[in-house]
Amino acid sequence: MNSIETLLKVERADLSFSSRGGTWVQALSKVSFNLGYGQSLAIVGESGSGKTTLLRAVLGLLPLDSGDIYLLGKNLEQCTSSTLVNLRRRCGFIPQDPYGCLPPTLNVLDAVTEPFILVNGKQRKVEANEKAWQLLKELGLGEERISKARIRSGLSGGQKQRVSVARALILQPTLLLADEPTSMQDASTRGEIIEILNTRVASGMSLIFVTHDLLLARAAAGRTIVLYGGMVCEYGNSSDILEDPVHPYTRALFSALPKLGEKLQLLAKNRTFQTEERGCPFRSRCPLSDDQCQCSPPIRERKGRMVGCWKT
Ligand SMILES: Nc1ncnc2c1ncn2[C@@H]1O[C@H](COP(=O)(O)OP(=O)(O)OP(=O)(O)O)[C@@H](O)[C@H]1O
Ligand SMILES: [Mg+2]
Repeated sequence: MNSIETLLKVERADLSFSSRGGTWVQALSKVSFNLGYGQSLAIVGESGSGKTTLLRAVLGLLPLDSGDIYLLGKNLEQCTSSTLVNLRRRCGFIPQDPYGCLPPTLNVLDAVTEPFILVNGKQRKVEANEKAWQLLKELGLGEERISKARIRSGLSGGQKQRVSVARALILQPTLLLADEPTSMQDASTRGEIIEILNTRVASGMSLIFVTHDLLLARAAAGRTIVLYGGMVCEYGNSSDILEDPVHPYTRALFSALPKLGEKLQLLAKNRTFQTEERGCPFRSRCPLSDDQCQCSPPIRERKGRMVGCWKT
C-alpha cells in the first residue's frame, strides 16, 4: 500500500511486552483499522487494554511483533529513522501524563511555542507567540499571569493538560493522537476541548482520541474502537455502538454508564486480562463464554460494524 488516500492503516498489529521474569503481556492482538484525512476515531477501553501502546506503535515508537502500520503511505517498519522523524512531525501527540511531558523550567508561553520554534527556527518567534496566544485563549489559559507561570510550579494538573493540548496543536498536525486529553478537566472545559478538536477535524485534521468513556468517545469521534486486552471487541460508527452495543464487553461498559451498580462490579471482577496467546481475552468475565472462546474470535461484520466475538 503506497497511496496516501488513507492517512493511517493498521493491519493485524500484534505487540507484546516481556519481562526479565519471563512473564509477558499481549498488549495488542491482531488490531486492524484505518483512518482517512479529516476523520476521527476514538479508542475506548479500561486501564491496561492497550490504548497508549497503540498510539505509541502508530508513532513508530514501539515495533510490532507482526502486522503492519502504514502512516502517510509509508510502512513504518521499512522507514529510516529520518523518515520516521519527518512522519512524526506531521503528528501531534498529547501524552497521557501532563506532569512528565512538559518542559518544567519553561513558562507556559515558551512551552507552547517550543515545538514551533524547533521546527521553524527562532526567526519566527513573533509568529509562534501569536499562534500560542490564540491557542491559549481558546483553551481558557489566556491570562498573562498564566502565560508567564512556570510549568513546574505555577499550574494545576488540568491547566498542564491544556498546555499539552496547545503544544500538540501549534504545528497544525495532519494527525493528532490524543491520549485521554480531558481526563483532568471539569465538564465544561472538557466540552470546550472536544469542540476545539471537532473544529480542527472539520478543517481536515485527523484525530485519534483515547478515553475510558463511551459517551466522550461519541462526542469526540465519528468512529469508535472498543479494545479489551489488546483485542478489538467492536469497531464502527460511535453512535451505533453507543445506542446498540453488540459485544458483551461493550454492553457491560454501556450498562455501567448511568449508574455505578451491578454491571460495573461485573467489569471490576477478575480485572486481570487473559494472557494466554490464544483465546478471547474477555472470556473469564464474559457471561456468554464457552469452550469455543478458548480460540481467538474472528472479527466479523455485525449490524454494520466489526465485532470480535464468537457468541454475538
Ligand atoms: N513498557 C512496558 N513494559 C511492559 N509492559 C508494558 C509496557 N507498557 C505497557 N505495558 C503493558 O501493556 C498493557 C497495555 O498497556 P497500555 O499502557 O497500553 O494500557 P492503556 O489502555 O493505555 O491503560 P491506561 O488506561 O491505564 O492508560 C498493560 O498490561 C501494561 O501493563
Ligand atoms: Mg494509557
